[in-house]
Amino acid sequence: MTNKTVGMTDELNAYIVAHSSLSDPIVADLIAETHKVLPRRAGMQVAPDQAGFLELFTRLVGVRYAVEVGTFTGLSSIAIARGMGTAGRLLCCDVSEEFTGIARRYWERAGLTDRIELRIAPALETLRGLPREPHIDLVFVDADKAEYSAYWAELVPRMRPGGVLLYDTFLIDQRTVGHPRNPAFLLERGELLERLSGERVLRYREGAVRCEAETSFRAGIVAVKV
Ligand SMILES: C[S@@+](CC[C@H](N)C(=O)[O-])C[C@H]1O[C@@H](n2cnc3c(N)ncnc32)[C@H](O)[C@@H]1O
Repeated sequence: MTNKTVGMTDELNAYIVAHSSLSDPIVADLIAETHKVLPRRAGMQVAPDQAGFLELFTRLVGVRYAVEVGTFTGLSSIAIARGMGTAGRLLCCDVSEEFTGIARRYWERAGLTDRIELRIAPALETLRGLPREPHIDLVFVDADKAEYSAYWAELVPRMRPGGVLLYDTFLIDQRTVGHPRNPAFLLERGELLERLSGERVLRYREGAVRCEAETSFRAGIVAVKV
């Protein structure tokens, strides 16, 4: 063990991608189609290594019911649905028929349609309509940062003990503290989040997931309800 997390260099990222079971022809086609059809939006897609992490993580946690906020063309949802196995169910929340129309085709191709329910509506509305009792094992939040804490307040009471919350792009980039691109609200939320839900969670406020070969890192927050 070292006393801090290893930084993600280009070489290390390339090594991880090359030596992980991340991809298959369906995922490769989905990534290619997203870049072709939505070139200016394709950067919203999770990186392939992040998808690989999501699938592995979902499997490790033994997820039976998951919720995704922000589905886009479907890469992260495919990873989660695959990680859940045939008995699992994934609720996908998005506002775009256009983006999720692509996702639906790839769910079909991947044989995942039976595991996934898509609701087209602002995610907050969808979350507020879910049963209040704890029933969620995993959430992946990857949309609409302005509502991150509102999602938290709706989600935490509905998480099963041991349920895991993954928040994408929580810290935006490495230049976290005091950087104008990384508004204080994101950091303050660390404290706000627990007050909002009034329940105990263990938080790990850092991610090691590299997003493409760009300057920014997509850091995540991982929290476990206890
Ligand atoms: C960053 S993308 C999600 C990427 C996706 N996880 C993937 O791996 O491809 C964000 C998505 O959130 C959706 N979105 C934006 N605002 C939303 C809202 N209020 N409720 C639900 N979805 C929203 C957008 O339509 C977009 O598809």
